[in-house]
Amino acid sequence: MVENIDNKKVRRVFGRRMGRPMHKARRDVLDSIFPQRKVPPALLTEQKDLSCANLFGCEVQRLHFEIGFGSGEHLHYIMGQFPDDHFIGAEPYMNGMTSFLKEFTDPVPENFKVHMDDALMVLNSLEEASVDFLYILNPDPWPKTRHHKRRIVSPANLDVFARVMKDGGVMLQTTDVDELAEWMVTQTVHCPDFEWTAERPQDWKTPPNGWMATRYENKGKDAGRSQTYLIYKRKPRG
Ligand SMILES: C[S@@+](CC[C@H](N)C(=O)[O-])C[C@H]1O[C@@H](n2cnc3c(N)ncnc32)[C@H](O)[C@@H]1O
Repeated sequence: MVENIDNKKVRRVFGRRMGRPMHKARRDVLDSIFPQRKVPPALLTEQKDLSCANLFGCEVQRLHFEIGFGSGEHLHYIMGQFPDDHFIGAEPYMNGMTSFLKEFTDPVPENFKVHMDDALMVLNSLEEASVDFLYILNPDPWPKTRHHKRRIVSPANLDVFARVMKDGGVMLQTTDVDELAEWMVTQTVHCPDFEWTAERPQDWKTPPNGWMATRYENKGKDAGRSQTYLIYKRKPRG
């Protein structure tokens, strides 16, 4: 059975969670792959004590975390690039989750976990210094001023990201909304735990080496918008 979503527990996820009625292939992955690969709810204590070893049942060398993976194109791509690493993807939108899961063929790899809800629930549960790579790709822009507090890159959330990232870990933020790009840089450079790696405009206007543009990114480019790539390093702890 598809898991019930208790909306009362959702605190930071805004926007849609369900789409059109699901086709059988999508329902099937929610019944088969999803229960095996979801972060077990019992581990989501938000007590900052969840080790990767406990979550994956093995030692984890490098952990990638993608917040709001959409249909999961980028997550699939990096899983292909780094087959020995481990991955967590959070996406509350059910159609996005099923799009991601239905691309797997047997045997489904065991080095990833998914969470169909607010990424902060997992991040707040993980132990300090767990994450090597954090991806926030094309987050919802929330253009109205009164909705800016919903933006995922915020001072409070940056503290969460800093806690959970390893020293020297890399955070990547992208957007094709210029005002949001400016907002994300401003918020992040004001956080004392992150260092923006860019030295010249070329650095944020050019995709990182080996970059795979998602459909969302390509749609923006087709519409004449330019994509911004913001790369930060988690500074060493004092
Ligand atoms: C504009 S879409 C971008 C999707 C994808 N990253 C891409 O580049 O194609 C933003 C996504 O973030 C998800 N999202 C919003 N708030 C979130 C949260 N608190 N935790 C996890 N995902 C979230 C939304 O459901 C949506 O799918």
